[in-house]
Parts: sequence; C-alpha cells; structure tokens
Amino acid sequence: MIDPANAIDFARSSFSSSPEIVVEAPGRINYIGEHTDYNGGLALPVAIDRGISMVITKSSQGSKIRAISQSQSTLVEVGLDDVVRMDSFEGWSRYLLGAVKVLLDEGFALRGADIAISSDLPLGSGLSSSAALLLAVIFGLSLHNGLDLPRDRVVELAHRAESSYSGANVGYLDHFAIGYATPNRATLIDFATMKYHSCEMPFSDLIVVDSNVHHSISAGGYGKRRLECELAAKTLNHRFISEATLEEAQSLEDLDLRRRAMHVISENERVRSVARAFDDGKTGASYLVESHESLRDQFQVSCAETDLIVESVLRAGAEGARMVGGGFGGSCIVVGGDFEALEAVVSNDFASRGFSQPTLFRAGLSGVLRQVH
Ligand code: GLA
Repeated sequence: MIDPANAIDFARSSFSSSPEIVVEAPGRINYIGEHTDYNGGLALPVAIDRGISMVITKSSQGSKIRAISQSQSTLVEVGLDDVVRMDSFEGWSRYLLGAVKVLLDEGFALRGADIAISSDLPLGSGLSSSAALLLAVIFGLSLHNGLDLPRDRVVELAHRAESSYSGANVGYLDHFAIGYATPNRATLIDFATMKYHSCEMPFSDLIVVDSNVHHSISAGGYGKRRLECELAAKTLNHRFISEATLEEAQSLEDLDLRRRAMHVISENERVRSVARAFDDGKTGASYLVESHESLRDQFQVSCAETDLIVESVLRAGAEGARMVGGGFGGSCIVVGGDFEALEAVVSNDFASRGFSQPTLFRAGLSGVLRQVH
C-alpha cells in the first residue's frame, strides 16, 4: 500500500526538514488493450494501491534539485542551471531530471527542491513505475512552484519526459491511466481521439504475479514493434493500424506485419467486449486469455515465464490471466481463483522449470494521483 508516512519519515531523516508538499502517484494495471495506445486503439487500465509517495521541501542548497529514493542507492544532486544536456545523466536520475527538464523547457522558473521518494512498486514489472515517478515529480513540482498546472498538462508533460528521455518512444497509456485514474473504476481510453471515461469494475482487487524477469523498455523490442505497426498501417494506407479491418490485415504479405496488425485489431475488439462485460457486471475474464495468446503468438512480446504463469494459474482454477505492459518479462494479472492455491501451483511449476520464483500479491484497484499534504 502507498504509505506517505514512510516517505515523510524518509524525507525528515535524509534532509532534516519538514515536508511542505506530499503527493502520491499509483502504478497501473492495464486490464486489457495492450500495444494499442501508439496504434490509435483502445485500452482499459486501472490504477492500483501500490505506487510512489513523494515529499518535496524547499531546498536548503539554493537552486539545486536534490533527490533521494529508498529504492535507489544514488543521491541526485544537480543545480537547476545544469539540467541542460540530458545525456550526462543516466539511470533513475535521467528520469527524474527529465521531468525537471520538460518544465524548464516550458519556460517555468523553478525553485530548488529537496525530494524524497518511497515506492512499493516493483521496477520494470509492467506496472508503470517510471510513469508514476514522472507524474509524481511533475505534479509535485507544479505544486511546489505554484504553477497550478491542469491535469492534462501534467499528463502531457510526463509523457513528453518519458518519450524523450527513457530511450523508448512510449505511448500515452501509462500517463493517462495514472493521471486520470478514478478509485475503483477502470478508464476506457480511445487513443485515436484521446478521449476517455471511467467505468465500473466488477471487483475491487486483482492478483498480480510478477515474473521477476525485469525488462527495460528501451532494450529494442518495444521500438521494433512500434515501427512494424507503423509500417503495417502505411502499407494499408491508414494513419493507424487500428483503422484497418481484419481482412485488410490478413492481406499483408509480410508475416510479421500481418501478425502485429492482427493483434492490434483483435485486441481493440476485446477491449470493447470487456467494456460491455463490465457494464453487465461481468469480468470478461476469457478475453484476458485471448489477449495473452495474441500477445504471445501474434505480437510476440511474451516470454517463457509469463506464458508459464498464465498456463499454471488457469490450471489452478483462475478464470482468466494475461501478461500486462510492454512485455518481454514483467507481470501477469489473474482474475478468479484462490490466492494460496494459485501460489502453490505457480511456485511448483517455476521450480520444476528451473525459473527463479515469481512474486504474487493482491493489488487493490483504488489508486489515484493526488496531493496528500
Ligand atoms: C508500455 C508503454 C505503453 C504501452 C504498453 C503496451 O507500458 O509504456 O505506452 O505501449 O507498454 O501496451
């Protein structure tokens, strides 16, 4: 659970100052609609009760940004005038300072700040830890500097920071999912129009299985898929592959392009089906399994560990499961089934395949980006 008290204690012990602004930014589960955001498609994410708490205080060091995180060993300490050439920063400081940079680029005069971060979101697990960090920093600095940025500006700048400085040209899914989250409701997003609305979900928590295969989205696979989708759309004379029909997709000669297009078009249809199921108070769990199979066979972004999780939990009595996020590792979500029974089967199956043990936890669906103090 996101715990601001933890970040406040951490800020006090790290900077010996009293917190002025405290914000929290949740992680997200994308219930369904994977790799559709940069294809003008549909997605249905929900924010969770795990995430980032961040404390900001006026800097005791003039116009410096100092930042420390409980999950990172390095202290970031940079003068605001030196946040210029981003290639001199790497790792988590690049994310953090990327958020500062987009605000400076907009012409905002920023004051120095001491920033303390605590997080219970596993990194690289497909639960949007990086987007949560960027949203927290931009939202927090907006409050700290009296900028009063409207929510859509915070979301847009967080996306700009991530796509400019993470090394991957990511879509808007994570920033929308977190920035516009409503507790206990999913957000149905149409990336062709950038319109969204919240919808009721027939449950208040989900089981997450983190494969502990942690991916880096900048590793290449994500960018390659994006290019393939763009090429498929161009070949069929569409702006986005989501505008094509299944028949058009089937006409693509190149097998890889055909597979990518088939995934995106069928995934959009599954999002529509799940949204209708939610309206009827149902989980639409079977569509999750279809989504996973399509991500595995057509979009080819799953891995042996996430495939095994889905196979194991279904055998152990789950109604539905699928990998979430960019893929090549990360987490799966599970609908239905008994937690202990699922854990026993998954753990046993992982041991017999010689994989490192995964981590199971229940995620409450109550996350929201907000100022706590
Ligand atoms: C990552 C990206 C998102 C989205 C998903 C796949 O999480 O950051 O923009 O493309 O992968 O659905």
